[in-house]
Amino acid sequence: MKLTVITGSPHKKGTTALLADKFIEGAKEVGHEVVRFDAAFENVKPCLACEYCSIHDGECVHKDTMNELSKQLVETELIVFVTPLYYFGMSAQIKAVIDRFHASNAKIAGNKKAMLLAAAYGADDWTMEGLEKMYESMLRFLAWEDAGKIMATGCPVREVLEQTDYPQQAYEMGKNL
Ligand SMILES: Cc1cc2nc3c(=O)[nH]c(=O)nc-3n(C[C@H](O)[C@H](O)[C@H](O)COP(=O)(O)O)c2cc1C
Repeated sequence: MKLTVITGSPHKKGTTALLADKFIEGAKEVGHEVVRFDAAFENVKPCLACEYCSIHDGECVHKDTMNELSKQLVETELIVFVTPLYYFGMSAQIKAVIDRFHASNAKIAGNKKAMLLAAAYGADDWTMEGLEKMYESMLRFLAWEDAGKIMATGCPVREVLEQTDYPQQAYEMGKNL
């Protein structure tokens, strides 16, 4: 299967980077083709809502690394969103990527699966509610099917996450696709 993993943290060795690494390790072991896009280290400008794309067959007015990802997303069968929880939602870095889906909505909607891997400091039962709601609404809008989630609450830093079962869960999620 062709997979695209989009990460949203500026921490190269943070909690969500570990979840992404373990997921990719499992997926590659069983032969899946993985493209990783680390949004915090790419040049992705925010959507200008200029609607240039609506009259240019989905071409965006920005010329940045999102253009390449957009082409990749048309081909991919599974998109994995990996984000730290920032004020009860996704990080700005990954949200900028998602907002740029606007140019490609018609080309990417339907026939895809998605996953969500997230980590947060908080450990309340409502910590991830806002993020999950946004993810579910996005999938409903794009007619994508949810293929699984890992919500690693109570994990402020990598050293804490390493003491939990979440990295193993991420590995198995990739391996069992
Ligand atoms: C700007 C910012 C906002 C955050 N907002 C939340 C939040 O709303 N709830 C929460 O539980 N943790 C919040 N956190 C903590 C992170 O989600 C947590 O430390 C996470 O493990 C960081 O992942 P990373 O190491 O992959 O960057 C926030 C951290 C930052 C820097």
